[in-house]
Amino acid sequence: MWTQPFFLLKPLPFRPDGQPLPRARGEHLDLHGVVRDGAGRAVDGAEIEIWQCDVHGSYRHPRGAGDRIDAGFQGFGATRSDGRGGYRFRTIRPVPYPGRTPHIHVKLRHPAFGEVTSQLFVAGEPGNAGDFLYRSLDDADRGEVDMRLQRAPAGDAVSWIVERDLGVG
Ligand SMILES: [Fe+2]
Repeated sequence: MWTQPFFLLKPLPFRPDGQPLPRARGEHLDLHGVVRDGAGRAVDGAEIEIWQCDVHGSYRHPRGAGDRIDAGFQGFGATRSDGRGGYRFRTIRPVPYPGRTPHIHVKLRHPAFGEVTSQLFVAGEPGNAGDFLYRSLDDADRGEVDMRLQRAPAGDAVSWIVERDLGVG
């Protein structure tokens, strides 16, 4: 995918304490899970990066930005798995853009396995059947990259919750 590596078009705004942070448009999503190696063991200290387009279908990328950009959406996130392999991101439910079904790009790095790049998809999304990449995956592969979104409880800070372990090796 040409969208990687991500980089910022301009610096993120600095907000003094007490100032509200910009809030991304779209349906907020809590994405979390455990990084696991080929034997199913939790991987501690894996670097995890995600990036995706905003609710208007624009990437934070000079060639990806469309006519409309959500300035409240950072476009990427980075974290590190904890001692139990756990990770968590707050993002938005991915949306389609021309030619692609909704997806979240993900990259993992760790000395044990090097670097792995993949994409996560929304299970059951109608556009999946016509997506060149999703179509190229067999059922086992899809089982590794499907996100089964659950509606968050009323009053929650997010609209959707998904637990998605990330398997490497
Ligand atoms: Fe993409």
